[in-house]
Amino acid sequence: MGRHRHTVTLTINGETHDLAVEPRRTLLDALRDDVSLTGTKKVCDMGNCGACTVLVEGQAMYSCLLLAVDCQGLSVTTIEGLGHDGQLDPIQRAFIEADAFQCGFCTPGQVMSLRGLLDATPSPSDEQIERAVTGNLCRCGAYLHIIDAGRRAVVLDREAKEVRDVHVAG
Ligand code: FES
Ligand code: FES
Repeated sequence: MGRHRHTVTLTINGETHDLAVEPRRTLLDALRDDVSLTGTKKVCDMGNCGACTVLVEGQAMYSCLLLAVDCQGLSVTTIEGLGHDGQLDPIQRAFIEADAFQCGFCTPGQVMSLRGLLDATPSPSDEQIERAVTGNLCRCGAYLHIIDAGRRAVVLDREAKEVRDVHVAG
């Protein structure tokens, strides 16, 4: 028996997608299975680990707790949407420089949580950095390096913005 599907229009990493989804389909499954964006990880699938974190309208959210149909018309950014012109996002570079991952499975979620923080708060305190990734579990225990990466990302993000501003002005 055919299952009832709804068409939902999402802007994902700047591109419009019309998806036919069952009402129960999570945003996480829609991203991974319907759009093949598998950088967003599915681990607990119940709002406990943060591996599925994406930005929805600029806010870091667990995509396993959102229904795709409830995201109609919204803008979603995944880890695949961060780098530009063949360059990694400053937060991704900071993770490499700070050696902030081991298995790396939690890393996309960590990066997206910090991206959400720095977009809203370009000069966060250590406490704000810690709070931003508090919902992202890392089973390897790389937490201190992850916080270091957050601090480093603040510097790299500022430098990248200055370069962009020079290009725009020039
Ligand atoms: S997979 Fe969404 S919080 Fe764990
Ligand atoms: S680096 Fe392994 S779970 Fe985070």
